Amino acid sequence: MWLKALISLLMIQYLAATCNVCQSASKVACHNETTFSICYDGEPSYDLLSCPKNFYCTDGFYTCYQNADPVCKSEEDTTTTEILTTTTTDIPTTTTTEIPTTTTTEIPTTTTTEIPTTTTTKGPWNADDICQQATKSTSYENEDDPSCTTFIKCTVSTDGTHSTKITSCPTNQYFSTSLKVCTATKPDGCVEVTTKAATTTVATTTTAKTTVTTTTAATTTAEPWSAEATCLTITKSTLFQNKDDPTCTSYLYCYVSNGSATALIKKCPTNEYFDISSKVCGATKPDYCT
Ligand SMILES: *[C@@H]1O[C@H](CO)[C@@H](O)[C@H](O)[C@H]1NC(C)=O
Ligand SMILES: *[C@@H]1O[C@H](CO)[C@@H](O)[C@H](O)[C@H]1NC(C)=O
Repeated sequence: MWLKALISLLMIQYLAATCNVCQSASKVACHNETTFSICYDGEPSYDLLSCPKNFYCTDGFYTCYQNADPVCKSEEDTTTTEILTTTTTDIPTTTTTEIPTTTTTEIPTTTTTEIPTTTTTKGPWNADDICQQATKSTSYENEDDPSCTTFIKCTVSTDGTHSTKITSCPTNQYFSTSLKVCTATKPDGCVEVTTKAATTTVATTTTAKTTVTTTTAATTTAEPWSAEATCLTITKSTLFQNKDDPTCTSYLYCYVSNGSATALIKKCPTNEYFDISSKVCGATKPDYCT
């Protein structure tokens, strides 16, 4: 168990290269070629600072060095996956017809068909779909969160399985789409969430006294299910069954930001169904779905 944890830790470090890693000599962490922040107790503060022009963030003592090779290089956008389908049809047909008159007919036919298909289907935004296309673990913007205080953590494990998780930034931090980390700088276009704090529902348990002869049946006033009410019961972003959708092809996504929850109905990918127990969309339709 301990060994396993160590291996996954090393792997994450390797995948993230030397971005966001506190350097031993300088006690700063590079976030991209030219941006860095000072580390406190071995953790980057994400209070972004920039190197001067033509200087690059390195692991050296003075951090920024002119025309140096940066330790943290911006990676290509891993969310854009080009699907290249190459169909190579190799048909070497060699027909050797030997007729008594000694006529040899040779017909070598080699047909190579190359069909590069770049699929750029821009459907409704879906975190799981984007994660499925990732080739390695990455983080990306949560387009459902206008406050930018959450992001999507997409994990690609060694066996190729993808998992998507909505993750909150630390308090007063915002997800930077360019750096793919949470920073103290609020990016342009991110809204301040000024909604009132979520009401903490304290469940009041009324213990009904039962006499020996009378059984008091608890009268439950069933309120109609509502997405908004469901989201008010939680303190961190969670997925729920969309009880208004008996087909299970959508789900309710409550995201919590600064103490207030917002309800969003999200569609599963095509031909997938939301499963209550695993809280993910999958190809198997649960029994309770129509
Ligand atoms: C590094 O990140 C900063 C802050 O997000 C951004 O302004 C800058 O353009 C980035 N530089 C590179 C080379 O990506
Ligand atoms: C969070 O909400 C409180 C009050 O609701 C507000 O004072 C504070 O500025 C908010 N913080 C952020 C980061 O939006």
